[in-house]
Amino acid sequence: MRTQVGIVGAGPAGLLLSHLLALRGIDSVVVEIRSRAYCEARQRAGLLEDGSVRLLREAGLADRLDREGLEHGGIYLQFSGERHHLDFRDLTDGRTVTVYAQTEVVKDLIARRLADGGALEFEVSNTAVSGLDTEAPVLSYTAADGSRQEITCDVIAGCDGFHGICRPAIPAALRTVWEREYPYAWLGILAEAPPATDELIYAHHPTGFALYTMRTMQVSKLYLQVDHDARADDWPEHRIWAALQERFALPGWAVKEGPALDIAITPMRSFVSAPMRYGRLFLAGDASHIVPPTGAKGLNLAIADVSVLADALTGLLLRRDERLIDAYSSTCLARVWRATHFSWWMTTMLHRTPGADPMEAALQLSQLRYVTTSRAAAVTLAENYSGYPPLH
Ligand code: FAD
Ligand code: DHB
Repeated sequence: MRTQVGIVGAGPAGLLLSHLLALRGIDSVVVEIRSRAYCEARQRAGLLEDGSVRLLREAGLADRLDREGLEHGGIYLQFSGERHHLDFRDLTDGRTVTVYAQTEVVKDLIARRLADGGALEFEVSNTAVSGLDTEAPVLSYTAADGSRQEITCDVIAGCDGFHGICRPAIPAALRTVWEREYPYAWLGILAEAPPATDELIYAHHPTGFALYTMRTMQVSKLYLQVDHDARADDWPEHRIWAALQERFALPGWAVKEGPALDIAITPMRSFVSAPMRYGRLFLAGDASHIVPPTGAKGLNLAIADVSVLADALTGLLLRRDERLIDAYSSTCLARVWRATHFSWWMTTMLHRTPGADPMEAALQLSQLRYVTTSRAAAVTLAENYSGYPPLH
């Protein structure tokens, strides 16, 4: 078999890349170890930057996003029993963010690829990549029916997430890795309850961080800082709601509770592996970098990477122009490092570090006070949060 671009992984990065390439007349095959149902049900991020929404719209993928997405013009920061609004429209050049779950983005992408006759194989196993330093790299895998397949490609895109096989296929001597683990985790609860807030709330509290976000006007998503080794069994629903009520408490206001639809614990890590290219292998999304979720950058970075990659591969495959693929890694890494810094800054400003001295909370509160009273500091948060124009 032969294709122009072999894509490993049907997360947002791999699916969107295959669609952007198809729009330019470039063939691809996407292989995915999980089932379609699993990919469509996986609960992850929920917030799209302005530029991500624009890109999805320009790519003809935003019919449902435009109908069902919830546009937000700011966030609340809560600390010391006060809730402060940051107005992004005012602080930036009118930018907003949109709540539309990653799982919905993935459903829309899968439906569109299949409707357009895209090659998308679920439930493959033993994926391998070889010949990466040649002009004909090979993607091999065992298909769902048990047959072994080999696809000769012009290029392979490693969109297979943090635990994938593509990043380790780059010789270790050629890679530099920066990594930091945080001494806490997030417990996320998706609940059948209308959000009690018009905007997302990021709360700093002596017992730990909490985030109030939403999926629809009927379904809320809330996150709670928990110990890094916490297990779901430690957190029965009544304990989760009690902690959320405590961390978001304001007189006359309460979190709206409801039956849990999903509860999951996510570790917190910053990770960057560079370069994002080796020969004819290009990494995109979580395969190359991870940010802690505070600030909602992970999904948006994956979207940004593949928009740069689609343009670069168009240059290579349609015009034999290598300038953009040569710049791919450094173009993406500039944005990746900005988002890595922002996510680290939001995370360390808002979470309680176990065992930290009292000075830490005092410094955090001073920073939060500054962000909510200085226009310059608020602009810094708003422009990082809402995205970096232009997306490309
Ligand atoms: P992924 O979505 O991980 O997709 C990679 C795909 O590759 C997967 O479908 C995987 O099954 C497949 N794959 C892996 N190995 C192979 C292989 N060998 N062969 C074939 N296929 C393979 N970000 C936020 O901004 N906010 C959040 O609240 C948030 N919550 C998260 C919660 C969890 C549990 C996780 C893991 C991530 C979360 N993120 C969040 C991050 C965000 O979801 C990711 O940044 C985003 O999914 C990246 O997209 P991707 O396509 O690069 O990778
Ligand atoms: C969501 C997740 C985040 O990490 C964040 O900072 C904002 C929103 C969400 O899942 O909606």
